Amino acid sequence: MENIKNMIQERYGKIAAEGRGCGSSCGCSDASMADEYTGLAELDIANLGLGCGIPTEFADIREGMTVLDLGSGAGIDVFIASKHAGVSGKVIGIDMTQQMIDRARANAESLGIRNVEFRLGEIEQMPVESNSVDRVISNCVLNLVPEKRKAFAEIYRVLKPGGAFIISDIVMNGTMPDELRDDAAMWAECVSGAIGKNEYLAIIREAGFKNIQVLKERTYQDFSKDDFTLLSMTVKGVK
Ligand SMILES: C[S@@+](CC[C@H](N)C(=O)[O-])C[C@H]1O[C@@H](n2cnc3c(N)ncnc32)[C@H](O)[C@@H]1O
Repeated sequence: MENIKNMIQERYGKIAAEGRGCGSSCGCSDASMADEYTGLAELDIANLGLGCGIPTEFADIREGMTVLDLGSGAGIDVFIASKHAGVSGKVIGIDMTQQMIDRARANAESLGIRNVEFRLGEIEQMPVESNSVDRVISNCVLNLVPEKRKAFAEIYRVLKPGGAFIISDIVMNGTMPDELRDDAAMWAECVSGAIGKNEYLAIIREAGFKNIQVLKERTYQDFSKDDFTLLSMTVKGVK
């Protein structure tokens, strides 16, 4: 597991330093998983093309809310959320890769966005107070986390009662071919760490969430074959 984490940090540290054009997936280059952000050209420096949905579209973020973005990368979804939360609200991004945190902080500075904060930390043990957050968002990150139960238990802990998470992530239907499952590099590419859609939804239910809804789904033909389908989904749950 440490091996996987080291590889993720190495890969995303490199992407943070070099920018876009990072490989085959997690939104990069040819087999892009990323959805297009529209009307946000001013935030382009924060978009490394690493997402697989746009969770803020469904998050109903309002003035004064506290929002938390898990695996915030260069900060794109944090900055979008910050527009909705306004000066009386606050958006926190957490990421375990120091270079991503550095890049996101530099982006906030150059964009002049002040109601945001980036914290170095792991999703499995977040540096965030319990019952303190109105919305948790995340874009193409939880597939990278080996202990998904722990991640959803943490999301439940930090949300206020009545708060909601809106997460875009990679899941699958069918059986992943062994050559993909056993390929450590494909883990960092957001493929091998994907679990079954039904298992993913069961973990969310077991964590205690209510009103669970799949809001959007998209299939990636380039990775799908026989009975195996790789897909992105945007899912919501309420504490
Ligand atoms: C595919 S990128 C997505 C970045 C961003 N959400 C976006 O859409 O541009 C995954 C990010 O999650 C971070 N990450 C992966 N596993 C993590 C974990 N267990 N805890 C915290 N951050 C993690 C990586 O460092 C990387 O920045």
